[in-house]
Amino acid sequence: MQEIFLKAPPMGWNSWNTFMDGLDEATLREIAVSLKEQGFLEAGYEYFCLDDGWEEKTRRVGCGVDYDRKKFPSGLKSFGDFLHGLGFKFGIYSCAGTLTCGGYPGSYGYEYEDAQKFADWGVDLLKYDNCYVPTDVPGKFLYRRMGQALRETGRPILYSMCNWGFDDSQTWVRSTGAHSYRIGTDSRDTWENVQSVMHVLGKMNLTAFSGANCYADPDFLIAGMNGRGAVSNLGEEIGPNAGYNVYRMQFSLWCMICAPLMMSHDPRYTTPQTAEILLNRELLAVNQDAANIPAFPCRIEKMMEADASKCEVWAKPLSCGDVVVGLFNRKDTPAYLQAGFESMGWLLSDTVDAYDLWAHRPAGVFRGNVTMQVPGRDCVVLRLHRRR
Ligand code: GLA
Repeated sequence: MQEIFLKAPPMGWNSWNTFMDGLDEATLREIAVSLKEQGFLEAGYEYFCLDDGWEEKTRRVGCGVDYDRKKFPSGLKSFGDFLHGLGFKFGIYSCAGTLTCGGYPGSYGYEYEDAQKFADWGVDLLKYDNCYVPTDVPGKFLYRRMGQALRETGRPILYSMCNWGFDDSQTWVRSTGAHSYRIGTDSRDTWENVQSVMHVLGKMNLTAFSGANCYADPDFLIAGMNGRGAVSNLGEEIGPNAGYNVYRMQFSLWCMICAPLMMSHDPRYTTPQTAEILLNRELLAVNQDAANIPAFPCRIEKMMEADASKCEVWAKPLSCGDVVVGLFNRKDTPAYLQAGFESMGWLLSDTVDAYDLWAHRPAGVFRGNVTMQVPGRDCVVLRLHRRR
């Protein structure tokens, strides 16, 4: 029996936000090549994940689920081999209920057959959703069942649980063997979506239940969607796409809280600004840091303006002894944010050198606290090094 032990959050790309269930093998092969050519694979985005919609619409009774032969003419084994040949790992999707969220066959009652098929196709990651689940079986039983089925295949398969934080999942997720677990709603390319998730994250005690081998997952990165992509056309949200400043905020916070980094834009349309965000090596190193301490919110000592509820300061200690501080301003106008060193574990008499992880240059010397002006709907992320 083989197991995975994750020492850093998983990174990759997922098909959902761009294609929803409109998958086709030729396009997906193009996407994989494009990701590799642009250096995403080399930067660590190694899981290439199919979301819902790869399945044949109906399951043949008594059999493991099969793939849609029109969408994947050469088959999923061959598709997986292609991904592996490029150097990617192969991610797939299923659901704990009778149907998936998109109405395709779910794995309920077929967990062991499906897990074996995934292993036979060379799958390295399973995202496991929570629609159409039976009402008489506790969610934790269903997620344990698939976790057990995956382990029994003997193939190391990263298990990515997607029950949106229902049933207090943070209290039992580790009993399922899941390596990551969704804690809320789907991400969307809008400011409303990002700011409401940021607000919720600020109220959760992530450090208590997210860390090595089992990471809380606030859903996909939206950087680079730029209003494009199937989920952008759902019509359920009003307003323009989020924009680069918001993409920077989401990416920064996801890196700081040890979130899985799953890109979701169409990489064939990566702009230089998108690449600058998603390939920010200094922030990727923060996400992948060996200490595995998710950022925690710090008390804001002083604000020059009112409306502190829309401003947050987060701190993430790194294994080398530096501390990364993120100042997030969800207001529309600039704000001065100040956070004292004590909540980060330093003393008010300490002096630190700051380095700006977006401007990629030194950002001054601070004593006792860090104070910066942050533009509206934007963030400043600093790496602080204490003078010893
Ligand atoms: C749910 C999940 C999404 C996506 C869809 C697929 O809504 O939360 O991330 O996987 O199902 O149908």
